[in-house]
Amino acid sequence: MAIEFTVNGRRARFDGAPRMPLLWYLRDHAGLTGTKFGCGIGACGACTVLVDGAAQRSCLLPMGGLEGRGVTTIEGLARGERLHPVQQAWIEVDVAQCGYCQAGQILAAVDLLARVAEPSDQEIAALANLCRCGTYPRIRQAIRRAAELGRGGPGSR
Ligand code: FES
Ligand code: FES
Repeated sequence: MAIEFTVNGRRARFDGAPRMPLLWYLRDHAGLTGTKFGCGIGACGACTVLVDGAAQRSCLLPMGGLEGRGVTTIEGLARGERLHPVQQAWIEVDVAQCGYCQAGQILAAVDLLARVAEPSDQEIAALANLCRCGTYPRIRQAIRRAAELGRGGPGSR
């Protein structure tokens, strides 16, 4: 039976193998290559997406569990021209180096800020999304800036 769900607000339908990971679907079927394959075992976070608003590692999520759920990838985070505050903060702080881990970092940060308005260093570190380029200090700075933007702080829109 086909699985029906949404990706970035658009209805989607999948009638392939229910055990196939969502990451495969996003990259190979939907052409949403912003979500990256890193380790494939849930350890790195490069494949992080939001499912019903919660950060999930899409390499571990079987398609069969997605019936009726809403997936958001990095491609669906902005509202038209208007960037999400986390994206805006990421640009202001110039977080990315090679960029490979960054879609996952941003989506993990979106989930964290939805749960905790002003996360501590420990809460940010607990995201456990790996960055081989070592952008962790700028990620912390950008999450703080995004929190400020989300509260309507200086420079927010
Ligand atoms: S590719 Fe999914 S956690 Fe590394
Ligand atoms: S920016 Fe290169 S792996 Fe994170």
